[in-house]
Amino acid sequence: MSLAQLGADVTGVDISPTAIAAAQTLAEETGIPARFVVADLYDWLPTQEPAFDVVFMTYGALLWMSDIDALFAALARVLKPGGRCIGLEFHPLAMMYEQGRLTYPYSGGAHVVGETGVGDYVAASGTALAPSGFVEGQVGFKNPHATNEFSWGVADILGAQLRAGLVLEVVREYLYANGCKIWPDLVEQPGRRYAPPAARCRRSCSAGRRAGRSNPTPGSSARCRPFMDDPRKTHLAHRPGAFSRPPRLS
Ligand SMILES: C[S@@+](CC[C@H](N)C(=O)[O-])C[C@H]1O[C@@H](n2cnc3c(N)ncnc32)[C@H](O)[C@@H]1O
Repeated sequence: MSLAQLGADVTGVDISPTAIAAAQTLAEETGIPARFVVADLYDWLPTQEPAFDVVFMTYGALLWMSDIDALFAALARVLKPGGRCIGLEFHPLAMMYEQGRLTYPYSGGAHVVGETGVGDYVAASGTALAPSGFVEGQVGFKNPHATNEFSWGVADILGAQLRAGLVLEVVREYLYANGCKIWPDLVEQPGRRYAPPAARCRRSCSAGRRAGRSNPTPGSSARCRPFMDDPRKTHLAHRPGAFSRPPRLS
């Protein structure tokens, strides 16, 4: 919707009829033109022509994908020559934790079944995910539906993109997530971001020094400050990792 508001001709795809109905309602109510399709990406992408300038995929999508080699191959195929694939995801390390405890495998597409289902992370994130105004809905929501997730590490993701023939242009790692409070003890930062508490980070940096590092590792001094405390850095948050398909040679 944001891209459509900027003038892009947008097609949004999701397997969930509920999600698509919500997107359509939002488009009608705001008058922002965008098309939405209920489909499984694995079925829909092979039916498309290579007609897209940009493929954009954000937070919380990759963990549902059982085969990222097939996914990125299909995404690369629908791009026009010179088109770009832009992604912004939770860091795979962050996805290893549950309630602050190391719980899940890191990589290889390990299948993770979550018996307790997806929690109400939108409510937990308050105004960060509802900037136009948070309205409290159901309290104490418990999801009865188990989840099937897949753990993809950084090399899995970058490798799948490269094997799909995409050219790596930009990869960035951020010390916060935009909008979503994925762990209960994350602290809200300016700009609707959530980051680990500075105190916890300070402890881990001190532990690193006690373990014999004479100097903090490059960048670690920045990690020990409250995240994004410098408003001059905020523009960096909107530079997601980007891949592009090389121009096709005829
Ligand atoms: C956490 S949400 C991501 C939301 C996304 N960042 C956005 O802003 O719309 C994950 C979405 O992926 C969708 N999904 C999961 N597997 C899918 C698939 N195979 N094909 C299409 N959509 C899928 C789910 O229905 C869900 O709406």
